[in-house]
Parts: sequence; C-alpha cells; structure tokens
Amino acid sequence: MSQRKKLLAGNWKMNKTSADAGALVREITAAAGQRTDVDIVVCPPFTALESAGKMLDGSAVRLGAQNLHPEKNGAFTGEISADMLRALFVSHVILGHSERRTLFAESDAFINLKVLAALKHQLRPIFCVGETLAEREAGATLRVVQTQVERGLVGVAKEQATEVAVAYEPVWAIGTGKVATKEQAQEVHAFIRSLLTKHFGDAVAQKIRILYGGSMKPSNAPELLAQPDIDGGLIGGASLEARSFVELVTAAAAAK
Ligand code: PGA
Repeated sequence: MSQRKKLLAGNWKMNKTSADAGALVREITAAAGQRTDVDIVVCPPFTALESAGKMLDGSAVRLGAQNLHPEKNGAFTGEISADMLRALFVSHVILGHSERRTLFAESDAFINLKVLAALKHQLRPIFCVGETLAEREAGATLRVVQTQVERGLVGVAKEQATEVAVAYEPVWAIGTGKVATKEQAQEVHAFIRSLLTKHFGDAVAQKIRILYGGSMKPSNAPELLAQPDIDGGLIGGASLEARSFVELVTAAAAAK
C-alpha cells in the first residue's frame, strides 16, 4: 500500500464571490470537514480566502490560494505575496497552472521563484505541469513534463521537497471533459516520480504526492485514483459544487 495519503484539492479558478465561497465551504465541511483519511484543500479566489477560511475553522479542510508573487512586498500592482496569504491562514498554493503559463505567460523560471518563495514562507506548493495536445501528438509529452519539473524545482532542498505536491494536468484535458486514460496518466505520473527520485532520492520521492488534474469527476476518479502513482486530484469544474467534490473525496478515501 502506498505510504502517501491522498490529497484532493479544489481549484475554483475565477469563480465564487466571497459570500458564495462561504456557502460552498459550509456544505463541504458539513459533509467532509472531519475526515482525516484524505487531505482536502479548497482554493478559492483571493477575494474569497477570508470568508472561506472563517468557515473552515474547526474542520480538517485546508485553505489554498491559486497564485502568489515571489517578492515579499513592493511595487507589484495587482499581485499578492506569501505573507499576505499566510495572514489569512492559507497553507497551500497552486503554482504554474497551465492557465497561468499560457494566458499570463508565466515561464518555468518565474514559476520556480514562486515555488521557492512559497516554501520559504511555509506554504505548500501544488506545482502544476502538463503537455498541450500538440505536444502529446508530437510525442513530446515526457520531454515537456521533464523540462517543467526540472526547471520548476531548481533549488528546492531535499528536506523541503515533501512539502510540494506535483499536479500532472494534461492541458488538453483541462475543462474539456476529455480525461486522460488511466494508462496515459499513470505513465506520466511514474515518469515524474522517476525524475523526483533522480533529484531527491528514493525515500523522498516516495513521499511526494503526484496529483492528476483534468476533467476528473466522480465517474472517472476511482480508476485514476487506483493507479499506483496517482496520489490524488486537482479538481476544477467538479469542485464548484459540494456534492461532486465530496463524492471525489469519498472516491479518494476508497482508493487508499
Ligand atoms: P478541470 O480543471 O477539473 O475543470 O478540468 C482542472 C484544473 O484546471 O486544475
């Protein structure tokens, strides 16, 4: 059996006002707030972190942000620092999501600075990687993922590496309803684990969680989560309703 507890993170993207977020968190915590057999994280937009955090108080569900800026403070209009997130009791942060990479031109080097800043401030990165459809069709999947993993984790100390969760999110599967097959996902997850082993050694690599993301939903989750190197999920669409998100939590617990 895997020594890794499953981790399920909801990426709400640019959805939910502060009030809507409070209501959704209330439903999630009512159904799954005391579960400790799965690590659960919700990642609302910045403006809803405070209201969501208040509703999470007393539950085992953790609070995540969707981005941060690597600098401590200063003239970075529109940006949010790790300290600001910590002050709202945020424990996790999604970094390098493909929407940030493509729509906001984030480079591997910039994402690396964010990963290092997060770790420095005791925030746990959910560090995303994944290939586009064109890259997959060109047979470049593993090469692309290798570059993203290696460049994104430069300078991460072995001692801190287990704080990171890597999320493999094939870009062609995000929000499209097209999910990777369990074989496609497991192949890349095992490859990522081999890269982590090369970088941090086997004992550390065996502890790092590798999440799958991209149209994961209650109907396809059980077979994905049953794969030996799939340690949870980063959930977009299906995390916006308590019912489907909680069903995914149940599936993750069952797949242990
Ligand atoms: P999806 O999004 O579940 O809606 O495909 C996943 C993600 O982008 O993290």
